[in-house]
Amino acid sequence: MQESGIEVAVALDMSLGESPVWSVERQTLYWTDINNGHVYAWRPQQGGAPTRIELDEKVGCVALDEAGLVVATASGILRLPASGEPEWLAANPEWKKERQAGQGNRFNDGRCDAAGRLWAGTIDADESNPSAALYCLDRGELTRRLTGIGISNGLAFSPDRRWLYHTDSLTRCILRYPFDVDSGTLGEGETWVDLETLGLPGVPDGAAVDSEGCYWSALYDGGRVVRFSPEGELVAEHPVPCPHPTMVAFGGADLRTLYITTATQHLDAGGKARWPLAGSLLQMKTGVTGLAEPGFRG
Ligand code: BGC
Ligand code: CA
Repeated sequence: MQESGIEVAVALDMSLGESPVWSVERQTLYWTDINNGHVYAWRPQQGGAPTRIELDEKVGCVALDEAGLVVATASGILRLPASGEPEWLAANPEWKKERQAGQGNRFNDGRCDAAGRLWAGTIDADESNPSAALYCLDRGELTRRLTGIGISNGLAFSPDRRWLYHTDSLTRCILRYPFDVDSGTLGEGETWVDLETLGLPGVPDGAAVDSEGCYWSALYDGGRVVRFSPEGELVAEHPVPCPHPTMVAFGGADLRTLYITTATQHLDAGGKARWPLAGSLLQMKTGVTGLAEPGFRG
């Protein structure tokens, strides 16, 4: 199939659209608006408007779960079953509850590995200091796996399960870590992509890996989605009609639609007028197939 231009999938005015994830079983795309605490669900084959769950705190990412969804919010990780009450799975160690409100480093980007562990990282409250970390939730236990991070993003796995990809957006580099899916352990990380060296703008934000093992990265403030080969070479660039694409996910019946979430949070009124598609869910057809997203098995 030919690649197509980028168009609107769902017109929205999100502040920080993020974390698109496709359920093959449900033929449903989920995503979040982090700043507004919203979780969206949408079935493209049915058309119509998405449904929306409203949480009372920021929600960094969403993952699939047999009973429904798992979300990593500011204060912790919880299961949102399709019916019934939310279930707390883990508290965010970087979040302090103070009276009614809380403060600290909220959860940000995350996804499940092939064994069903949830990996989710945090974001420094000022988006400038290396105070955040990457965590793994495995059978009820949350462990800190990487520290010294400013903005945890870009988490993904190679199709052969040998690599975990991750970025601290502030460094403008994407690292890869040898990964053992059986034990969940990480080896020594190495710089895999450096936007500076490649002359690419913006920072690496969310990502998805396709069936050829290429890594699609949304360049926040770089106005494009880029595709890197397994060797870390830049193989394609797709301009996006707004400066802040945040993350990508393959979906649709044939897993050949790339969904792209976007943000308006760094645009003033002039920027919003110039980029009317910012804040919407975008889509494009790809010539390559995506991978089915594993769910949480906690
Ligand atoms: C964060 C945003 C941040 C962006 C770019 C996102 O994952 O949630 O707050 O501005 O990355 O670094
Ligand atoms: Ca992100």
